[in-house]
Amino acid sequence: MISLITACVIGFLAACATSTLGSGHSQARLGVDTVQPANLPGGDEGEKSPIRLNFSSPAPHIFHSTFSLLKQVPNTVFPNGHTLASVVIPPLTLFYHARRDAEAPASPEWVAFDSDMSYGIMGGHRNVWMWTYQTARPVKALYFDGESGNLEGLGQFDFQMLLLYGNVTGPSGIDDIGLEYERARGLCDWLAAAGLRGSGWGYEGVVRMNAGFEMIWCDFLSDSLRLISRINVTAPLLPKEDRDSDGDEERQPAPPSLAGGEVSGELLVRRTCATRSSSLDVATTSITTRPVSTPNLPDMPPGWKDRLRREPFQRTRSWGWFDSATWHYGASGVGASVGETRAKLSGCGVFTFYSRKFTNQSLNRALEERQRLNLTGDGLWTGGGDDTNRTEALTQLRRRRRFHHMEHASQEEAHLMKKDIEMSLETLLQDDSRCSGTDWALIMSDIVRRTTSVLRDLELSLVSTPQDWSDKHSVRRWLHNVRGRSHMFLVNVLQYPETEDLSVWSTHSALFNKTYGLCRSRYTALLEEDTVLPVTEEAEQKWAIEETFGTICLVQLHVGFGMERRWRETFGGSSTKRSESLPALRDQARVWSEQLSELTAWLGWEDSNIGCKDVCAANERCYIPMWPITRPSDSASSPRSVKASRRPWIHTDERDLWEPKCVSEVCIEGLCDL
Ligand SMILES: *[C@@H]1O[C@H](CO)[C@@H](O)[C@H](O)[C@H]1NC(C)=O
Ligand SMILES: *[C@@H]1O[C@H](CO)[C@@H](O)[C@H](O)[C@H]1NC(C)=O
Ligand SMILES: *[C@@H]1O[C@H](CO)[C@@H](O)[C@H](O)[C@H]1NC(C)=O
Ligand SMILES: *[C@@H]1O[C@H](CO)[C@@H](O)[C@H](O)[C@H]1NC(C)=O
Ligand SMILES: *[C@@H]1O[C@H](CO)[C@@H](O)[C@H](O)[C@H]1NC(C)=O
Ligand SMILES: *[C@@H]1O[C@H](CO)[C@@H](O)[C@H](O)[C@H]1NC(C)=O
Ligand SMILES: *[C@@H]1O[C@H](CO)[C@@H](O)[C@H](O)[C@H]1NC(C)=O
Repeated sequence: MISLITACVIGFLAACATSTLGSGHSQARLGVDTVQPANLPGGDEGEKSPIRLNFSSPAPHIFHSTFSLLKQVPNTVFPNGHTLASVVIPPLTLFYHARRDAEAPASPEWVAFDSDMSYGIMGGHRNVWMWTYQTARPVKALYFDGESGNLEGLGQFDFQMLLLYGNVTGPSGIDDIGLEYERARGLCDWLAAAGLRGSGWGYEGVVRMNAGFEMIWCDFLSDSLRLISRINVTAPLLPKEDRDSDGDEERQPAPPSLAGGEVSGELLVRRTCATRSSSLDVATTSITTRPVSTPNLPDMPPGWKDRLRREPFQRTRSWGWFDSATWHYGASGVGASVGETRAKLSGCGVFTFYSRKFTNQSLNRALEERQRLNLTGDGLWTGGGDDTNRTEALTQLRRRRRFHHMEHASQEEAHLMKKDIEMSLETLLQDDSRCSGTDWALIMSDIVRRTTSVLRDLELSLVSTPQDWSDKHSVRRWLHNVRGRSHMFLVNVLQYPETEDLSVWSTHSALFNKTYGLCRSRYTALLEEDTVLPVTEEAEQKWAIEETFGTICLVQLHVGFGMERRWRETFGGSSTKRSESLPALRDQARVWSEQLSELTAWLGWEDSNIGCKDVCAANERCYIPMWPITRPSDSASSPRSVKASRRPWIHTDERDLWEPKCVSEVCIEGLCDL
């Protein structure tokens, strides 16, 4: 049972060009149904009946996608991006472009934020050159969220394709690697044609992510990005004897997991090798005169396999690439807690297909999830059938965003999005004072941090129930504890009433109304009334915050008010039926617990839950599979069937994602067990 990470793979260039690409987006389309309009978050018939959450609401998805922007882990967990954001990269930011020839890069080409990534993709070859650039001014760029640079997935390119072609497949109907250059050119040409960029101004690149962040740089003649060095980074080969002394080449087993990586690595290299034929084209920036290059690898020289084994830095360059990706993991339990900080969100340019205006897209998502997740027409969770395992069902719900895609976005919606982007970005180019200046993602981070820890503590306190429910002292200690946790959430919105009347602790009371109102608008209070946000995309972010935090408030208040009432009833002094109500608290505890876990599922912040159980040693990193640094799945599902079911990636075992492990450099070559 050898476990391997088949990193990027390196050099197995000529082998196995038969990728599974092109198996097509064949998927049954669901019929259109009506979704009953009703108010979120569902009726509340009394404090006994739990709050029903609307799992079809786009609010938590808008919230979480904005929160996740530019962070590796959440965008790996939810790889099908729905959001485009404008970013600014400050002056003196370094960018790297490694290539396997001595030519200058054509336009457009890829640059990486980390040289480790560049070298990870293009190193291990006999003629590798590293071009290092620096930004000479604040550089604007577009950024697609999700694993938007994953060449092998299904759904990761949806947003880019919709902008370019109005559908997710484009003219050829397949995700061909050739489209990678088409996409880059298409995006850069679009920006130019829309008056959003030119040489040295405007949105000059497109930031994307796979294992780390990269940028499509539209025009190398722009003086925004200056070359500071160009170095032949080819390393001297190891002497022949080294390997010969190891014995017969044929008896050395090839690491078994290379199959997946072989394709992935080759894809990336092909992408970056492809411009050879157009490398004389450096000066070209116009839309029409550029020759179309067909990505093609040169035939491998004789003895290349042998040479490959003598490349000295095969392992370290894969590890270096993987390592650099972990630097941008974001605020999850793994690795450094920052994202890709060199690209900064420019507050109001966030466009998302989760937005309410994309009705067909939302409707189709709702229809699909209704079936898959046992939701009612109103988006309420039915709890599944009798045979449903609640733990598993909740996990499915928490991870639901992983399966979202935009295959069903209509041509009109794609067009609408494109026009929105063009209009808003043009406005912002001229006058970015129209933005309110609010840092929406920061507000969301604030909410996520606070809510995650309150929810986790509260759920844990709730389940550490007393051994003996008839023992007044231990029940009291338990309720005191959970009430304290709940109170920490309510502390800035709840004023205790003078009255001892228990009815104020009902969800129908004026106190509840008042507290809920304060809580829901906590983060947007000043914008509440008549503020009109001039940029409509900001209004959508505001709505998502109010809706998401409002739902958190509603559940927390529901539980918190229930606790206050029980506390008074049971231990409040005046009560006469103490001992009777003790056992009733056990059921109550279960109801509270269920309520909170449904809230957690609704929020879907699953990236906050994953992390390595152990503290990784100094030479280890917490590993999650990031394309193409993945290992193939042990499971029986073939890539093709996996692909047809539109799972977000192939060639990987999902357990690696949900139960990350510490790995060291040798794991990259399969020399360790995961
Ligand atoms: C849930 O949200 C969807 C999408 O916004 C909406 O169509 C539906 O009416 C909502 N359901 C309830 C019960 O509010
Ligand atoms: C997608 O769009 C392209 C270009 O607009 C078109 O040629 C192609 O037929 C469309 N594909 C589908 C499935 O609609
Ligand atoms: C780059 O360096 C390698 C190793 O020193 C050398 O073999 C190769 O010829 C160099 N390439 C060029 C174009 O000078
Ligand atoms: C939906 O129902 C099926 C069949 O009972 C069950 O396997 C699945 O876990 C349920 N999922 C959810 C989210 O309720
Ligand atoms: C439900 O699923 C969880 C996780 O898969 C498992 O640990 C648990 O035993 C299951 N519960 C039942 C009642 O089958
Ligand atoms: C909405 O989606 C459905 C199902 O994919 C499709 O049949 C319908 O034409 C779409 N509506 C519009 C206006 O494009
Ligand atoms: C609470 O607010 C709701 C809706 O705003 C209203 O219908 C209800 O009468 C209010 N209840 C009390 C007790 O104020």
